[in-house]
Amino acid sequence: TKQKLWGGRFTGTTDPLMHEFNQSLKYDQRMHAADIKGSIAYAKALSLVGILTAQERDKIVDGLKRVGKEWEDGVFKPQPDDEDIHTANERRLSELIGPLGGKLHTGRSRNDQVATDMRIWLLEEVKDIEESLKGLIRVMVERADKEKDILLPGYTHLQRGQPIRWSHLLLSHAFSFRSDLERLQQQVARISVLPLGCGALAGNPFVVDREFLAKELGFQSLAENSLWGVGDRDFIVEFLMWGSLTMAHISRMAEDLIVYSTAEFGFVSLSDAYSTGSSIMPQKKNPDSLELLRGKSGRIFGNMAGFLMTLKGLPSTYNKDLQEDKEPLFDSVDNVSASLKIAEGVVATLEVHADRMRQALTMDVLATDLADYLVRKGIPFRETHHISGRAVALAESRKCQLNELTLGDFKQLNEKFDNDVLAVFDFEASVERRESIGGTSKKMIDRQVSVLRAALAN
Ligand code: ARG
Repeated sequence: TKQKLWGGRFTGTTDPLMHEFNQSLKYDQRMHAADIKGSIAYAKALSLVGILTAQERDKIVDGLKRVGKEWEDGVFKPQPDDEDIHTANERRLSELIGPLGGKLHTGRSRNDQVATDMRIWLLEEVKDIEESLKGLIRVMVERADKEKDILLPGYTHLQRGQPIRWSHLLLSHAFSFRSDLERLQQQVARISVLPLGCGALAGNPFVVDREFLAKELGFQSLAENSLWGVGDRDFIVEFLMWGSLTMAHISRMAEDLIVYSTAEFGFVSLSDAYSTGSSIMPQKKNPDSLELLRGKSGRIFGNMAGFLMTLKGLPSTYNKDLQEDKEPLFDSVDNVSASLKIAEGVVATLEVHADRMRQALTMDVLATDLADYLVRKGIPFRETHHISGRAVALAESRKCQLNELTLGDFKQLNEKFDNDVLAVFDFEASVERRESIGGTSKKMIDRQVSVLRAALAN
């Protein structure tokens, strides 16, 4: 059989199961374009320091492009001895251009190569994820802008609390996603740090121009310490953490919508496009999309926790344990991307039942407003809270709504009650009173919409 790339000092062969165990090509081949890109830049850097002539450089670059094209056309043929994407591409390069291919790896190690590839790959993915996240926020903002007139009870402890606008609730989730957007954008500077030129661990003895490499590859900065450059995977941990928090937000929104889509609430219906049926109960329409969003969050947290455990005890620089960064990262990228798109689809196609939301607004959610009414007549809030509570208890004992108590009833609770107390029992007026910044009044919804629109423009 053919010699392994590193086979010089070996006399024995690799155990077949070990060979299989060691091989990462089945999953790291998705970085093929990043690997080719990094190698092309490196070939150019080698020619700048005279390791390659201009002619050799062009032959290598051309060969690398041909290898890249094979991947794109789906005709690249992995060989049993290809350990990973780096060895596969180099093996194929040498098949295409001959022994000259063996000059490419001068001064380079798979250690700086793989760290570079991962960063190139992730930077590309982050761009797409940013667009998906913006898409989700945009759909929420547009809905909120259109559906400002819909009122429902706002809940704490899942108990009716105070009336709010439906848009206010929707935007509360959008604000979580805005923070996620900021955090994603802020990560880019830390992903965009170039390890290429760090060599195996100690640096590059051919003194390749690393600033040239960074420019070629569009990186913002350089790894300033080669040991750090080959051993650092914080950018992966940070992305996994980002994905976890983003999924926690998606999951909480999903939970709201799952509860609201029950027959008992009936506030929203999921479109058929995002629901599934039961194999036995013909009437069922289950919110599987939302349940999967909620469920996948657990797996994304697992990727983060799992990789941190892999990382935490490692000695300095490169250790093969680091190959275990790929599957959790790829899995999180895939599942967070899909989750963002599904969440966008669910929200875009959700049917909102304004009438059911309105029916859920019982008069007791205005008990705070009733207490506030007396505050405006000069009574301390602690007392008005108590008085309003007694009004609630009285209505409850009479099995009537709060606004069905007579003026006489109210006056018995406190003489400051007057005819104008009836004006308290108006849900619209209640939400409109919450007009300080962050409140649920129409004007403050408009403000939130414009704040979020500005964030989307960044
Ligand atoms: N496939 C390896 C990884 O993903 C590439 C680096 C291998 N380096 C080494 N020294 N064995 O980490």
